[in-house]
Formats: sequence, C-alpha cells, structure tokens
Amino acid sequence: MSDERLFTFRNRWFTVSVLGTMGIAIVAALIGFVWLPSVQRDAQFSGIWNAICSAAGVPRSWYAGGGVVVEPDVRLSSVEMTPQLLANVSANSIGRGATLALRCTMCHGDRGMSDANSPNLAGQYAAVIYKQLIDFQKGARNNAVMSPMAMNLSDQDMRDLAAYYASLPRPPAQRKVSDARAPAIVAHGAPMRNVAPCAVCHGGIDSKAGSPWLDGLPAAYTKSQLLAFASGARTNDIDGVMRNVARNMTAEEIDAAAMYYARELEGRR
Ligand code: HEC
Ligand code: HEC
Repeated sequence: MSDERLFTFRNRWFTVSVLGTMGIAIVAALIGFVWLPSVQRDAQFSGIWNAICSAAGVPRSWYAGGGVVVEPDVRLSSVEMTPQLLANVSANSIGRGATLALRCTMCHGDRGMSDANSPNLAGQYAAVIYKQLIDFQKGARNNAVMSPMAMNLSDQDMRDLAAYYASLPRPPAQRKVSDARAPAIVAHGAPMRNVAPCAVCHGGIDSKAGSPWLDGLPAAYTKSQLLAFASGARTNDIDGVMRNVARNMTAEEIDAAAMYYARELEGRR
C-alpha cells in the first residue's frame, strides 16, 4: 500500500467519484422534482414551484396561501359517524318515535318489515337510520319517495324514529355466522380488485360503525343500492367506502350478494 492519502482532492479518483455522485444526485433531483411533476396535468402541479412542492410532499396550503377549497361536485353526507352516536336511547324517545312512525308504515310495514321492496327498518342500527334521514333531508341521498318524507322532520324526530325502529326485533336469523353458502364476495371479497369482504363491515366477521344491517333486506333494494353506488348516483357513503366497493364488483357478484342477504326474508315467509 502506498502512503498516499485517499480522501483528498489531489487523488484524481476521489475527485471523480465525488463529482460523479453529485452529478447523479442533481440529475435525479431535476428529474424527480421538476421534470416528472411538471408533465402532470393536475392542478396542484401547475407552475414549476407548485410542481416541486407537490413532488416533495409539502402541503399545498403552505405556499398556495390556503384559500383554494376544492368543492365536491356532488352533495356529500354531513353526518359525523361515531360508535357513540345514539348508543343510549331513552324509552321516551322510543315511544315518541313509535307515534311518528305511523306515517312510515305505508311503505316500511307496521313493525318496520317491508313487504314492498322498501328497506326494512326493524332492528336497523339507530345511527344508520338517523344518518340516512339526515342525508335524505339535506340532499346527500336522493329518492323521489323518501326525500320528501324526511323534509319536515326535526333533528329530535329523526333521533326518535331511529330509536324506535332500532328497538324493534330483527327478522329471525335463519343463517349461522359460518354459513358455507355465503358467496365468495361476501366471505372473502375480491382481493385482486381491492374489494374487502362485505362481512368485515356488515356483520358476519365484524361490524363497523355506520354499516347498515343488511340481512333480510329485499334483494331488489340491495341490488339497486349497489348499482347506485357503482354508478355514483348514491354518494352519501362517507369517504366513498361503498362506491369503491360497488364499482369493483361484477354484475354476478352484485346479484349473489343481494340474493344472499335477502335469503332470511325468504325464510321468514
Ligand atoms: C311512500 C313510501 C315511503 C314512506 C311513507 C316512507 N318511506 Fe322510507 N323509504 C322508502 C323507499 C322506497 C326507500 C328506499 C330509497 C332508495 O331506494 O334510495 C326508503 C328508505 C328509507 C331509509 C333508508 C334505509 C336504509 O337502509 O338505507 C330510512 C331510514 C327510511 N326510509 C325511513 C323512513 C321513515 C322514518 C319514514 C316515516 C317518517 C319513511 N321512511 C317513510 C319509502 C318510504
Ligand atoms: C369497509 C366497510 C364496508 C365494506 C367492506 C362493505 N360495506 Fe357496504 N356499507 C358500508 C357503509 C359504511 C355503508 C353506509 C353508507 C351510508 O352511510 O349511506 C354501507 C352501505 C351498504 C348498502 C346500503 C344499505 C342500505 O340500507 O341502504 C349496501 C346494500 C351495502 N353496503 C352492501 C355491501 C356489500 C354487498 C358489500 C360487499 C361486496 C359491502 N357492502 C362491503 C361499509 C362497507
């Protein structure tokens, strides 16, 4: 070994490697932060400085001065769904709800079990009923029949109606949790298409706050809702959770899920 020192700019190899590394870093930075972002056409990449900030992951509001609010092009739900929402309801509220519910029986049945392809409300989670009524009232969910029904309800009316319907018995369970007949989409989802099993939110494997009780819903209703989520006609699901599921389902899977969840109703008859 020679005594010559390695790390000095008098060593030609050292100089070349340092300059070479710096060169690669600069070229990479130019490509990553300037060239690639500036060929994107999204709004946040317009202008060289925006492009650099976006590529670096710096929040837009730091440099855009806030002010720019991206408005959704559809009306979204304004309800904040928590596990505590309507977790404790009073007997008084249920009683008031029972009286108010007299104007709902025509379609939802006198004990919340519909025979007319309207969704059953008996035993539905109170928070779900309350949220759907608010969404109908505020226009986040639209239906020619239901929207006018929700129009004149006060917040307390909606809480009472939710409490009442939630207190009614669900249709008797015909099916065990480990039902081998559950279609693949319900039990396993479609991992390659990013669809989680329905049962992780809607009961069976787990229940997530705000996910409606589906067992016993008329097949025609379940199917129509899945199609509405898939087409974007129904947009009141928070964070697009159901739109993302439904638009990745095949027509066969939609039918299979709708039939599966309806089977209890068939058993009841
Ligand atoms: C004239 C028939 C009719 C009447 C009366 C009616 N509904 Fe409905 N309701 C429907 C239909 C149809 C739907 C399904 C709407 C859709 O397809 O989006 C529905 C949906 C709902 C939903 C959503 C259920 C879910 O699972 O998402 C709730 C909650 C509801 N109704 C509550 C009520 C209440 C409370 C009343 C009484 C104040 C009432 N409805 C009166 C026909 C009716
Ligand atoms: C990540 C959780 C999640 C998964 C997975 C999921 N859902 Fe949902 N689903 C929800 C939530 C939350 C809502 C309530 C949306 C709202 O607030 O209106 C909902 C609503 C629905 C509705 C409307 C019910 C009604 O009463 O109006 C149907 C039908 C439905 N889901 C079917 C399915 C099916 C079938 C699958 C499986 C292919 C599935 N969901 C998977 C969370 C989920």
